Amino acid sequence: MKKRKNIDFVSKCVEKMAPSGIRAFFDLVLGMKDVISLGVGEPDFVTPWNIRETAIFSLEQGYTSYTSNKGLYKLRLYLERFLKERFELVYCPENEILITVGVSEALDLAVRAIVNPGEEIIVPQPSYVSYGPIVELAQGKPISLPTTEKENFKINPEKLAKLCSAKTKGIILNYPSNPTGISYTRKELEAINKVCQRYNLLVITDEVYGELTYEGRHIPFPALAGAKERTIYLNGFSKAYAMTGWRLGYACGPKELIAAMTKIHQYTMLCAPIISQLAACEALQAGRRDVESMRREYKRRRDFMLDGLNALGLACVKPQGAFYLFASIGKFSLNSLEFANRLLKEEKVAVIPGVAFGKGYDKFIRISYASNYMQLKEAIERMGRFCRKLKLS
Ligand SMILES: Cc1ncc(COP(=O)(O)O)c(C=O)c1O
Repeated sequence: MKKRKNIDFVSKCVEKMAPSGIRAFFDLVLGMKDVISLGVGEPDFVTPWNIRETAIFSLEQGYTSYTSNKGLYKLRLYLERFLKERFELVYCPENEILITVGVSEALDLAVRAIVNPGEEIIVPQPSYVSYGPIVELAQGKPISLPTTEKENFKINPEKLAKLCSAKTKGIILNYPSNPTGISYTRKELEAINKVCQRYNLLVITDEVYGELTYEGRHIPFPALAGAKERTIYLNGFSKAYAMTGWRLGYACGPKELIAAMTKIHQYTMLCAPIISQLAACEALQAGRRDVESMRREYKRRRDFMLDGLNALGLACVKPQGAFYLFASIGKFSLNSLEFANRLLKEEKVAVIPGVAFGKGYDKFIRISYASNYMQLKEAIERMGRFCRKLKLS
């Protein structure tokens, strides 16, 4: 038998997969001094003290075991109460809530639980970098639904309807969005829901930034009339509670779908870390005071950055949530990779090239404002210098 090269051990699907555009860019940043990073999608706050203290105390008490595959019952009960009080969403803690290792795992489980080989999942773009590859790993086919700056990067229901066929299994929604920060009104969501109902689509809705909403009220997709039975709702603790490193998320949905996801979860992850689950109980029990103060600070930064970038000619659609701005570089002749590379080398400001979020977004950059206010001020000054230089050249 012919000897395999090491590369042949890697599956075809993984071999042809491009590495994450965000990670690739950040390899460049590592090791550079004095860089202001507006790249990572991670809160600059540390987890509130009461949550950390609970975790420390849990360890002292010897909580070091596995939990039930579904997650601690206490945490599922707290989530049931949180979802009911905050959004009037009713999920049964016994069989409609699954605790996962971040929204990332919940997303992977949801896609793997529903996709048969060759089935299509619609991914509105620009999109969070994981959606396409996760669908491909499940042997599904991601179908891009581009949104434009003119549409405020919102899904156009007519365009959505045109993409639906017998092969379409579902759609992945994400609002407030990474990378644009846009969100939807009830009316806009209802129009999307109508198409999903007409074409019998399953909706996976990633609402990890729901608590970081600045304009209006966040409306979870399953709260819409008739949507709950066809929706897997994903949320987690990473962003709202500044708990990215704790790796904790959850999925809620119809019991048959949660049971299917739990099957995969019990053979792969077993359960989420017990310390993180106990810490999350404290996060939910303590209420929203810390979440609210972080949200207010992000809003202040959003307003500052929006004004600053627009004044530099880097026009942005006003984000309604999350902590990103998707700025147009259409006034300059560089593509997004050239722009980001030169900005990094010449002014030491790191942003993410728009192409990382979809092919059609090479005239945009993503800027995260999850950095302290002084750094954001300095970043705007440096970007101003850079833009003036580009205009003169
Ligand atoms: C839209 C979106 N979904 C999911 C995640 C990952 O969340 P988690 O840390 O809960 O896995 C991120 C992280 O940046 C994100 O932006």
